[in-house]
Amino acid sequence: MISKSFIKFIILLLIVWFTIIGYLNIKHPDQQWNWDKINTEKMFFPENFIWGTSTAAHQVEGNNTNNNWYEWENSLNQNGKSNIHNNDKSGEAANHWDMYRDDISLMKELGVNAYRFSVEWSKIVPKEGLIDENALDHYRDVCIALIDSGLTPVVTLHHFTNPIWFEKLGGFEKEENIDHFIEFSEIVFNHLSDIVKYWCTINEPAVYVSQGYFYGVFPPGKKDPKLAGIVMRNLLFTHIKAFHHLKGLENGEIAQIGLVKNITQFDPLRRWHLLDWYFSKILNDIFTNSTIDLFLNGKFNFYLPGMVNISDSNSNAIGSADFIGLNYYSRWHVKGHLSPTSPFTFEKRKQDIQTDMPYSIYPEGFYKALNDISKLNIPIIVTENGIADDKDDRRETFINRYLYALNKSIDDGMDIQGYFYWSLMDNFEWAEGYSMKFGLYEVDFNTQIRKLRNGSLAFKRAINRNGYDERGYIVSIGDTAPDLSLDLINDTNVQLSDYLGKVVVLQFTASWCSVCIREMPHLENDVWQKFKNDDFVLIGIDRDEPIQVVKAFKRKTGITYPIALDPGAKHFSKFAHVNAGITRNVVIDKNGKIVFLTRLFDEQEFQKMIEKIKKII
Ligand code: BGC
Repeated sequence: MISKSFIKFIILLLIVWFTIIGYLNIKHPDQQWNWDKINTEKMFFPENFIWGTSTAAHQVEGNNTNNNWYEWENSLNQNGKSNIHNNDKSGEAANHWDMYRDDISLMKELGVNAYRFSVEWSKIVPKEGLIDENALDHYRDVCIALIDSGLTPVVTLHHFTNPIWFEKLGGFEKEENIDHFIEFSEIVFNHLSDIVKYWCTINEPAVYVSQGYFYGVFPPGKKDPKLAGIVMRNLLFTHIKAFHHLKGLENGEIAQIGLVKNITQFDPLRRWHLLDWYFSKILNDIFTNSTIDLFLNGKFNFYLPGMVNISDSNSNAIGSADFIGLNYYSRWHVKGHLSPTSPFTFEKRKQDIQTDMPYSIYPEGFYKALNDISKLNIPIIVTENGIADDKDDRRETFINRYLYALNKSIDDGMDIQGYFYWSLMDNFEWAEGYSMKFGLYEVDFNTQIRKLRNGSLAFKRAINRNGYDERGYIVSIGDTAPDLSLDLINDTNVQLSDYLGKVVVLQFTASWCSVCIREMPHLENDVWQKFKNDDFVLIGIDRDEPIQVVKAFKRKTGITYPIALDPGAKHFSKFAHVNAGITRNVVIDKNGKIVFLTRLFDEQEFQKMIEKIKKII
């Protein structure tokens, strides 16, 4: 007989379970956009946006025989099998070392304006204390060739590989080894910083650690959660030290130095199962949140229940990046188990479009990752995003959808300065060898001939799109501005048509938009204070926020020009699609004609706008 109190207990348990699950589902919804209704051809990016492709030395250069990956490729695992799929070796790779000039031509053909690549530590410092000047000069030549072709070089100092001598000393497992990397960084920085502005210190600490120390599929092939935590801490602390060190060198002040963070989200496979939620949270914390927290408050935590619990702090972490590089590919679905030896596994869902890697196409996750990383409140550069697609039958969809997510984030006001596609061409995909085809260009590794894939044309189209500077407006320069009835927050109502005979600037803004907030002091000082005595009106139009919020926002930004309300983005939608991002200024001349349209804060464009106002006032 089951007792009544037992039944009550079970009912109570179910109520608690489903209340928590309901809360979690509301707080962290599984975002899925309706792609049938989305037009990915209508995307406009800021005029000075950085567009590029990414590679890493060991994956493309060829002839890297002096690093830990070379050893790894040439050794066998416990089962006597190669550590690399298909027994591949990086070997000649794409021979980018010799063919970089040809590859720069490929970049020109795409229409990009930047290139992210890594310098190979083991080539520059082949033995402890020995510097190979020729290798340094080679990278300088690459940078000069890029600059001569109108491309901005972005240099990564560490992309997964260590010189053998450094690995023998214990690599990043030992805190005292950090200084070897700092010395190397200084050597490269001193050699290139007069011509290189953008620097990435370390590529994806969390991936290096999970693959090399948790799953054991990257060198040194260990499966040791505690050591994983130590290496994670050391890599992040290395970044912090390198950042401050390089900033103190000549050209340090003008350099933009950042860390490259991979965000892979962990989502519950069964959205009704607490264990799946629990392990998703643990994994998100360890993989991503621990890094964000370190930058925000100087605290480092690395916790996996029953396996490892490391806490540390580093007050130099706060402010230790000029930008954050974001690498985003996909998410993982987590299934929790009541097993101490295998507490979680990852599973694919049937409904997802898969790529050749175990990643599904999930642009909504890219949008979320951009949102999450923007908590750092520093500029974001997407340093990697791409698809392995041998058949080339999903590349176009991937590109269009991920660029849509990028565009939406920019429209929301996130400070995203650039996007680098991974990768320029097919390359050595680490433990997967040559089986994964990430290239915009297909490489025939026998002949080294490169060929643009059809699916890659989507990238070319998006970054070279006509009407680039129209910025997603539905009005154009020369149109008569629509009349608006504006409710100002001081309880007056004005008609836009009342201002015929004056120059009018409308600023579309909102309190949650960081780019708007950056823009407002300029509008106040360089526009409103300069022109307000002439035949000139500047009105901020705050999107869809209640009057108290708008009043507080006005107080906070200290602006003195009038602000109007815009419930339901009614006014805004006369200028751009209702769901498009704000951060727009519209200049209207004395005859009511639109003469200038801006999108997002941009110094140069701001100056152009001021010149325009001066001319027509
Ligand atoms: C790495 C690249 C790699 C890419 C695709 C990133 O995590 O930085 O080196 O090729 O993912 O898997």
